[in-house]
Amino acid sequence: MNCEAPKKEAAPGDAVSPLVLALETSCDESAAALIRGRHLLAAEVFSQIEVHGQYGGVVPEVASRNHLRALKPVLDAVLQKAGTPLSSVDAVAGTAGPGLATSLMLGLSLAKGIAVALRKPFLPVNHIEGHLLSPFLSLPEGPCQSIGLVVSGGHTLLVRINGLGSYHLLGRTLDDAAGEAFDKVGKLLGLPYPGGPHLNQQASKGDPGRFPFPRSMIGSEDFHFSFSGLKTAVRYLLKKESSVRVEDVCASFQEAVVDVLVSKTMRAIRQEKLQALALSGGVSCNSRLRERFEHECSRAGVRLLLAPPSLCTDNAAMIAYVGALKFSAGAVSRLDAEIEPSLKASGWLQ
Ligand code: KG4
Ligand code: ZN
Repeated sequence: MNCEAPKKEAAPGDAVSPLVLALETSCDESAAALIRGRHLLAAEVFSQIEVHGQYGGVVPEVASRNHLRALKPVLDAVLQKAGTPLSSVDAVAGTAGPGLATSLMLGLSLAKGIAVALRKPFLPVNHIEGHLLSPFLSLPEGPCQSIGLVVSGGHTLLVRINGLGSYHLLGRTLDDAAGEAFDKVGKLLGLPYPGGPHLNQQASKGDPGRFPFPRSMIGSEDFHFSFSGLKTAVRYLLKKESSVRVEDVCASFQEAVVDVLVSKTMRAIRQEKLQALALSGGVSCNSRLRERFEHECSRAGVRLLLAPPSLCTDNAAMIAYVGALKFSAGAVSRLDAEIEPSLKASGWLQ
């Protein structure tokens, strides 16, 4: 399906569309959501940022303990918000991977347990597929032919989206993910965990041209990325110069990341002859990245699809959305599904 804006709005979801419950626990967010059709009824996220902030990063053991504590209240909250009893759910989706094995296991097991108790289908969902399709959530036409750029804390992927379930990987990071680079540089600068949003805030007060950081692989013919050299360049600068303006380091670093992401993505759009870009993952909250893509896409006549910030970082709405799309497309129950901590497990990505 081509990705043109529809002339007329379709109904967002009706009583006959299936009601899908989803749980997401791939890392340090315990999340639940309820969706009917493409109409999101309720979504709740319990973030463990404060807990892991004390350690400067996610501690898997601590994450699983907190999922255990948070899952029931988060589930109760979405049911109450949607005004729906658990018994009216038609299918249950759960994140199978990628992510931390001990975190994935908790959400997936609970989701399966609910499906068994309700005698309803269980649908495993890939977390990255959730991010990838999140910009389509409010669109009446659903996922359509486009380039998808997923920029999160764990992954940086450039994908050709042909439609639901048909994705071709064009490129990925060869080392650090974009969000990981933001977080590591944030740590070097003494910013709170996770560094990304704080660095974004500091960057808005700095000079993006002050430090000429490397734009690794910007001219390579492939669509891969590399961000670890950039992080090292920041480390060297901080060692060499004792009094630098943090705002300038942030702005210069951010501009380097954004330059590479924008340049390669726009080239992929031209090469694949597509007219739409779906931007997703936590880093897609970045205000400079959004601004640059808005500018470039409008110049090139490309439709830019962006989810609201609450659906860019980890959430269960995107898992419920993919679950609902698959269920409507005839997916069968998969109670035998196991957790899949690695990216390309079960071959969802070609
Ligand atoms: O998608 P996400 O919630 O989790 C993963 O699946 O990894 O992404 C989290 C990442 C973190 O690295 C965080 O620092 C980054 O997204 N992030 C940002 C911003 N907001 C979140 N990075 C740059 N600028 C932001 N405004
Ligand atoms: Zn994520």
